[in-house]
Amino acid sequence: MCGIVGVLGSHEAAPILVEALKRLEYRGYDSAGIATVNAGVLDRRRAVGKLVNLSDLLVHEPLAGKSGIGHTRWATHGAPTVTNAHPHQAGRVAVVHNGIIENFRELRAELADKGIEFVTQTDTETVALLTEYYIAQGATPVEAANKALDRLQGAFALAFLFSGEDDLIVAARKGSPLAIGHGEGEMFVGSDAIALAPLTDRISYLEEGDRAVVTRTSLEVRDTHGALANRAIKTVQVGATRIDKAGHKHFMAKEIAEQPTVIAEALGHYLSAEGEISLPEPGLDFTSVDRLTMVACGTAYYACLTAKYWFEQIARLPVDVDVASEFRYREPPVPARTTALFVSQSGETADTLAALRYCNGRADRIVSVVNVPESSIARESDLVLPIHAGVEVGVASTKAFTCQLSVLFILALKAACDRGEMDAATLADHVSALRSLPSVLSTALEANQEMQKAALKLAEARDVLFLGRGLMYPLAHEGALKLKEISYIHAEAYASGELKHGPIALVDKTVPVVVMAPRDALFDKTVSNMQEVMARKGRVILVSDKQGLAEAGDGAFATIELPTVPDAVTPILYAIPAQLLAYHTAVAKGTDVDQPRNLAKSVTVE
Ligand code: F6R
Repeated sequence: MCGIVGVLGSHEAAPILVEALKRLEYRGYDSAGIATVNAGVLDRRRAVGKLVNLSDLLVHEPLAGKSGIGHTRWATHGAPTVTNAHPHQAGRVAVVHNGIIENFRELRAELADKGIEFVTQTDTETVALLTEYYIAQGATPVEAANKALDRLQGAFALAFLFSGEDDLIVAARKGSPLAIGHGEGEMFVGSDAIALAPLTDRISYLEEGDRAVVTRTSLEVRDTHGALANRAIKTVQVGATRIDKAGHKHFMAKEIAEQPTVIAEALGHYLSAEGEISLPEPGLDFTSVDRLTMVACGTAYYACLTAKYWFEQIARLPVDVDVASEFRYREPPVPARTTALFVSQSGETADTLAALRYCNGRADRIVSVVNVPESSIARESDLVLPIHAGVEVGVASTKAFTCQLSVLFILALKAACDRGEMDAATLADHVSALRSLPSVLSTALEANQEMQKAALKLAEARDVLFLGRGLMYPLAHEGALKLKEISYIHAEAYASGELKHGPIALVDKTVPVVVMAPRDALFDKTVSNMQEVMARKGRVILVSDKQGLAEAGDGAFATIELPTVPDAVTPILYAIPAQLLAYHTAVAKGTDVDQPRNLAKSVTVE
């Protein structure tokens, strides 16, 4: 993963780099570092842990210079130590890298044979050493970087800075995104436009295989064949709001609370005033679609799993859902008349992008549901459906999930209409259920105290189970994922009916079991499974509506009441307790809610 940034500016680079890294910290926060060139002298500062440690270091050991590169790391090769932190420097060159150099062992052996010594365990150091080696052989910095790049296999976004060169950054993209920011007599490089937002809104995106030679007044991009390439400058609107918690203790709390607003915003983009479905891009007609293949990772995968129920039940359209890391290497057949749909908050997830590329040329159409419309996944899709969640900073995805669900539900309704599976009155009912969501979600958020109380019980547990049936089954998975990633409590989800086939052996009085059970058609079945848990002294936290709790709440360890909504939209509503239970548990345990250990927001390595 990792975030990279580069500045050829007219002011001191260090504070600008640190500020930009702040905006990239969502990509990793194991260590951070910057390098600058000042009057030809290349120097660097690096620190382990959060960016604040680098800022503190810079107070005591400032770094002058108006040109620089910076990095925030999510460790892949080598532990998060100062030595392994980027920028990696070898003689006259410093390098920052996002991605993985797959042939680094081979290159390392080759350099070692030449008597070149390594000081880190990283793959990136190879790039710096190789470039320095070519400089020592007489190549210019640009030639040396190019020669080194020619040798690299794997995925990377790289930025090179050289001693003696106050006005030069070489940048390259293969597999990991890279943006060039155009200022007035200044130029910037960044993993994304968000990093560069306060500096410039004029961005050109490097394409696969591109290499760029950047100076304050020029940009020369060459494509994968070495031909000069003109990458259009776009004005992007990212805004500078992502650093603001708006009075909340954590970004995650803010983003949970924002859901009524952002869902209303998303619905506004997909539903006309008359209640008709209006996709932002024309061209998605399900009459010629026989199969939908949905691929994603993590929370976005659970959004797909939920959507499978909608597409199959409402639109009678067969759906395959897969995690991208499995899909991409399984080489699944893609039958004729298949539409491939990729869901990703960041739009940069390496496995999802690779799965998309696998489907390119095999599926009839590539559709993506993303939060970042300028992302790689969006740019490589035939049709993009943005979820309009706004920037999501908390590493645990919350508002992006419910916005993904909202857009996917509308898409399922569209499929049902196109395929003649839905009459106007039923569509109107579903649209009205969707439109009630912002107010219903606000009511659910008011049950915060009940969730906080229940969370205190979860915080004492070592293991927690989540159960759900039908539309609540993927949601149970999402609840378990949220809990483990931010509270570090082991949590698993099961289809309620599956419990007795093995996992019920785990149940005893120390194991809280969160049961997601709106009073829907499957309620009685779920309640039977819940009774099986209670009979074994399992401590049930029942999440249901008024009627459900009246019928089955007795004997539960804790209950959480949610408003009653039509069955189809329950996953969007029940996401709130899934998120808040995890949030309050994490707060009770004192973990780092927004930046949980070992994780990063954008997973750009496989
Ligand atoms: C969990 C979470 C992750 C992401 C996953 C995919 O809270 O955020 O599981 O959902 O890494 O990321 P995107 O959606 O950016 O492709």
